Amino acid sequence: MSEAIALLPTRTRPIRTKILVARGQGQLSDTSNTSAFDSFSTLSFSTMTASNRLPSNLPNSDEQTIVRDYFNATGFDRWRRIYGTTDEVNRVQLDIRMGHQQTVDSLLAWLDADGNLAGMKICDAGCGVGSLTLPLLERGARVSASDISEKMVGEARDRAQAQFSNPNAASNRPALGNVDFSVQDLEAITGRYHTVICLDVLIHYPTEKAASMIAHLASLSEERLILSFAPKTVLLSLLKKVGEFFPGPSKTTRAYQHKESDIIQILEFCGFEAKRKILTSTSFYYSKMIEAVRR
Ligand SMILES: C[S@@+](CC[C@H](N)C(=O)[O-])C[C@H]1O[C@@H](n2cnc3c(N)ncnc32)[C@H](O)[C@@H]1O
Repeated sequence: MSEAIALLPTRTRPIRTKILVARGQGQLSDTSNTSAFDSFSTLSFSTMTASNRLPSNLPNSDEQTIVRDYFNATGFDRWRRIYGTTDEVNRVQLDIRMGHQQTVDSLLAWLDADGNLAGMKICDAGCGVGSLTLPLLERGARVSASDISEKMVGEARDRAQAQFSNPNAASNRPALGNVDFSVQDLEAITGRYHTVICLDVLIHYPTEKAASMIAHLASLSEERLILSFAPKTVLLSLLKKVGEFFPGPSKTTRAYQHKESDIIQILEFCGFEAKRKILTSTSFYYSKMIEAVRR
């Protein structure tokens, strides 16, 4: 994962992508998985870009192995610090920490405004170190939190233990019983949830893969799906280009931006419509969050 879109030492090239949509099943598939579906219509996305530091035709599983290995090693150390409270962060990392916290706070403000969080069954897909899971537990939600990285899940579990196992805080005790942590690829998650949330994970998916990923998350959701992603805008594309002039040592996995219109289109194919949206933008952190509800 990039620390900052603007600093990515990657090149981009245009690709044209066709995504096959399974009719009537609320699921999408790419061409490598057509046999799973009976009938398809074709959704043709406009030109998108994908970073090409690695060959662009890598199977999804290879990319996921790279992401998993990164978040179990150097990425774990970096993101544990960014998503923490200590001062072991540099200026860029501090900016990203603040930006990410704004995204989490915006999401919690939406949920708090709805006022029905206690007891709600929520899936936090790609939970990282628990930056969202923990405040959801504080508010009485029942959370299924998973991540492809064992180390990230371990850290999330440790943070939950530290926050909620104080024997003197009786109100905290139910929280640990309300959470289920697991290590898994989010496309292997099963179950049904009132709300499925996936924050800042789509940056690891090119849009053609994002379609099947979002379709899977949509299939788990009874009411609501909340996603955030790095928006693909002219300004960010320029900043990304500027970053190529300052390559430095690579600290990243590949990073993908997405057009908001593409994400909305995918959500609509899955039977959802956007209800609330917000863009968080600091110097080095850009994230668009969309709350979509079942139509
Ligand atoms: C930038 S972090 C965001 C973490 C968390 N959602 C948050 O906002 O605090 C991205 C996380 O996505 C996880 N991830 C990436 N690809 C994944 C996948 N296919 N399945 C599950 N988790 C994944 C990474 O391991 C990492 O913890």
